Amino acid sequence: MPDEAAAWRYLEGMVHRIFREYGYGELRTPIFEHTELFQRGIGETTDIVEKEMFTFTDRGERSITLRPEGTASIVRAYLEHNLAAAGGVAKLYYYGPMFRCEAPQAGRFRQFSQFGVEALGSSDPRVDAEVIALAVNIYRRLGISDLEININSIGCPTCRPLYRERLLEHLRPHVAEMCPNCQRRLERNPLRLLDCKNENCKRLTDNIPLITETLCSDCGGHFQQLMQYLDGIGVRYRINPRLVRGFDYYTKTVFEVVAGDLGAQNALCGGGRYDGLIEECGGPPTPGIGFAAGMERLMMVLKSRNLLPQVKEKPQLYLAPLGMEARQALFPIMIQLREAGWIVETDLLGRSLKAQLKSADKLGVPLVGVLGEDELRNGQILIRHMDTSQQELVPITDLVAILKKKFQPSAEFHE
Ligand code: HAM
Repeated sequence: MPDEAAAWRYLEGMVHRIFREYGYGELRTPIFEHTELFQRGIGETTDIVEKEMFTFTDRGERSITLRPEGTASIVRAYLEHNLAAAGGVAKLYYYGPMFRCEAPQAGRFRQFSQFGVEALGSSDPRVDAEVIALAVNIYRRLGISDLEININSIGCPTCRPLYRERLLEHLRPHVAEMCPNCQRRLERNPLRLLDCKNENCKRLTDNIPLITETLCSDCGGHFQQLMQYLDGIGVRYRINPRLVRGFDYYTKTVFEVVAGDLGAQNALCGGGRYDGLIEECGGPPTPGIGFAAGMERLMMVLKSRNLLPQVKEKPQLYLAPLGMEARQALFPIMIQLREAGWIVETDLLGRSLKAQLKSADKLGVPLVGVLGEDELRNGQILIRHMDTSQQELVPITDLVAILKKKFQPSAEFHE
């Protein structure tokens, strides 16, 4: 709805600006991709690929999928457009609708909007810290600073198999007690159990070995450095060894920003490092890290905390013509004023002066220009200042001067 859309526009503007301040360039990817990209990128054993994608066969018998997230598409575009050739780190951001066939509930929708970043080409833990700081900064700038930042490292293809074995040893004896989902996925992806919301499965993982104890020296060192960088910039975080996230592409760092007042769907944003994904998608070994954040959830927090500014643009002038001649005379004037950037409204129903003034009042317009037969004959217009109810008769040609006196004109439009 228009009021809500105005608030979204304001938020979107903030987000775009902050991303650009951090040196990220926008990349717009298509709404759908070949299904295979998500199957390979996100992983066959993830909830998203197993049961949440909107997948169709198109007229050419190709399987296509509405994008459930942005990372795989960004990697595809990075490879297709050979962005590596520019050298350095490719810092890309995106914004737009994503689609997941989840059970809708408060804060969880089948079409939702994400903004996110991906930094491709560097394995330096400074990039991890920068990406986390960027996410936190967005929320801070919007007035939300009491968020919980969960971080973890889920290792790499060297050390994760070790953890996987330890986890399996611990969990195999309890297969019968698990939910059907976890039973099915246990051998293929036991880490998913740490994420399961089923009470039984949660209990089974109460005393599991922690992944942070089995990290190889590379992953352990990387994680330590990340924490030092975060400490150095005053970002407070919680190490959450159970945080595994629902994508197979992650390596090393994973993180989530959580809002206490959001209820069950409390993750405002989530992300992590994916040093193997670009290779998985057919490119050369290239590290990457990023995050994505949900707009609807952000909106919910801002709304409930009264942090949304009044962003509805009110008209600056309401033109109230009385009679056919006045309507004809005012119409081109109104169009010219609008072309010059002023926000001008008028009556389009041929209503009485009283009804027009009522409309202007309802719209919250500070200036009303009334044009009746007498005024028209004299080339004048009656200006009514709605706040003081004062009126003045001025030449029609003075309209712009009056508007300029009342409002700070933006150079871009009015000069
Ligand atoms: P994700 O955790 O699936 O990560 O989604 C990120 C955020 O999108 C969530 O924290 C949440 O705010 C929002 N979100 C997800 N699903 C829904 C939904 N059904 N309804 C409303 N909001 C939702 C990713 O998508 C990864 N691609 C993040 C990433 C980028 N990792 C590395 N780079």
